[in-house]
Amino acid sequence: MIVQPSPEAVARAAEILRAGGLVALPTETVYGLAADARSGEAVARIYEAKGRPRFNPLIAHVADRAAAERVAVFTPLAARLADAFWPGPLTLVLEKRPGAISDLATAGLDSVGVRVPAHPVARAVLDAFGGPLAAPSANRSGAVSPTTAAHVADGLGDRVEFILDGGPCTVGLESAIVDARGDRGVLLRPGGLSRENLEAIAGPLEDPAPAGDRPSAPGMLTSHYAPRARVRLHAEKRRPGEALLGFGGTPGADLDLSPAGDLREAAANLFCMLRDLDAPDITTIAVAPVPETSLGEAINDRLQRASVKRVYNFNL
Ligand code: TXA
Ligand code: MG
Repeated sequence: MIVQPSPEAVARAAEILRAGGLVALPTETVYGLAADARSGEAVARIYEAKGRPRFNPLIAHVADRAAAERVAVFTPLAARLADAFWPGPLTLVLEKRPGAISDLATAGLDSVGVRVPAHPVARAVLDAFGGPLAAPSANRSGAVSPTTAAHVADGLGDRVEFILDGGPCTVGLESAIVDARGDRGVLLRPGGLSRENLEAIAGPLEDPAPAGDRPSAPGMLTSHYAPRARVRLHAEKRRPGEALLGFGGTPGADLDLSPAGDLREAAANLFCMLRDLDAPDITTIAVAPVPETSLGEAINDRLQRASVKRVYNFNL
């Protein structure tokens, strides 16, 4: 449903978000598909609606710099960039403050992408909601980013119940992403702010280090969380030295992704349970079979990557 952005509509959007639901909203770059970034289950709904076959870390959208400081640790470089370009089409990758954002929203990484959008409707929703919103572009996985409410409705249809119409996006390109954790920034994704503008404030920006097995295309994930222990898939029972991660009530499991067999709950639990089981005395985390349907595809993709990391070293 496409809704015009009245104060009532903004209040309704905040209510849906507080209840763990999805709202598509305009930003100055592209339309985003928003959910409460603190809730793993709400974030799981984003991946489900987009039909993403894998978990990419999502950008946390916040109302202002103070809210950004609550989710991320600012460096002097980050502070300069935020002062110059926020609100606006710049995402900063920074060290994540523990517990501020669900592990699923950051795909298990210790870093978080954070931005303060400039669009008045996005800002109104953030103010009314009062917390960080995870919001990837509001398109089905593999489709182009939407820049009008009608594009969102065409692509996601009834997968999102509430689409706020803020008119066509003025920037029309995704935000530029700068890793600002060090002294020197790394331009992870060129976007709606030019390199020249960024470098005028940040000094010379580095390009992401090329690495054979790492996706280097714009907007692609450049690092993956993987546990230290080995991961064994499709495990029916525990072997000596193993921890067992169950699904759907696996007998004898140390932890169960979802005793009820709910894939959304399993997605929300995945990264924190892998971390919890990744103890020094555990050589291998055995994982019970997870069905390949719906969110199961992305869950299995992540587990598969974790299980082959020693060969392909995805953990660089
Ligand atoms: O303009 C935008 O940024 C739009 C609007 C809606 O804000 N959002 C957007 O989100 O483009 P999405 O999910 O389509 O792209 C986010 C990109 C992903 O490619 C992801 O890999 C990268 O940001 N990213 C997010 N957090 C990251 C992190 N901690 N480290 C490295 N890359 C990260
Ligand atoms: Mg996108």
